[in-house]
Amino acid sequence: MSEVWLIASGKGGVGKSTTAAALGMALARGGRTVCVVDADIGLRDQDAILGVENAVVYDLIDVARKGCALEQALVALPGEPRLQLLAASQFARARDLNAKAFGKIIDRLREKFAFTLIDCPAGIERGLRNLLTCGADGAILVTTPDAVCLRDAERTSQLLREKGMPEVRLLVNRVNPLLVERGETPSAAQAAARLELQLLGEIPEDLNVCRAALNRLSVLDVPCEAREAYLRTAARLRGEKAPFPGYGTKKRSLWRRLFGPALKEMKPID
Ligand SMILES: Nc1ncnc2c1ncn2[C@@H]1O[C@H](COP(=O)(O)OP(=O)(O)O)[C@@H](O)[C@H]1O
Ligand SMILES: [Mg+2]
Repeated sequence: MSEVWLIASGKGGVGKSTTAAALGMALARGGRTVCVVDADIGLRDQDAILGVENAVVYDLIDVARKGCALEQALVALPGEPRLQLLAASQFARARDLNAKAFGKIIDRLREKFAFTLIDCPAGIERGLRNLLTCGADGAILVTTPDAVCLRDAERTSQLLREKGMPEVRLLVNRVNPLLVERGETPSAAQAAARLELQLLGEIPEDLNVCRAALNRLSVLDVPCEAREAYLRTAARLRGEKAPFPGYGTKKRSLWRRLFGPALKEMKPID
């Protein structure tokens, strides 16, 4: 059985590309064949995130316009025999990708890979709409827990449902346990309840995500909380059960309450 998931968001910069790369790698290391498709036309990121920017010769638009064979455009990842990338074009625009041609590419990827993860452009404009008819099994909607981002996620969820997306699951990224504890942001479970979506994953705010990228490493290759969270999320995507830690919702031990990190009440300057 093969599965195709769109990785979408209302607002940009919420962690879609980080998520596509981390989940792709986690699924591949767990024994599944995976293709990550960078469909953020004109803003190609995945080749850099996956560390293969020098290996990209052909891209999604080259294949969609029939200039080259799909096999020629798929980029193998060194040391990751089950993971491949179909890169986005750096110079094309969203309108250069024909929805029908994209659907045909996805049909062929479905035959080759157990999982196809499509890293989508942010928002609900043409860039995303072009991808909605590709026959995906579902969408992973990525959001951060702040009010603006949740509102955009809600709008995107509505569009996905209106367009007949069979399943929409929520991934709440950059959850800061201290802000949840103080009630300044909702927990991941509260965000999912507000959006009436099933929670697929909660990833904590973790400096190691940025640091891994700066050091050209995968977040899965550094020991950190975000790594564990992505591994649990990949397990859920495989249909397995994995616990939700509920960042910021559990009562802290006396020791951590006394000596752990704390936030003071925020007061505006007079
Ligand atoms: N859980 C996290 N903790 C800290 N930084 C993160 C986290 N997730 C993503 N980031 C950072 O946020 C920025 C945007 O992430 P990216 O995946 O490019 O977002 P998008 O694809 O939605 O635009 C990157 O610099 C990334 O390293
Ligand atoms: Mg991106």
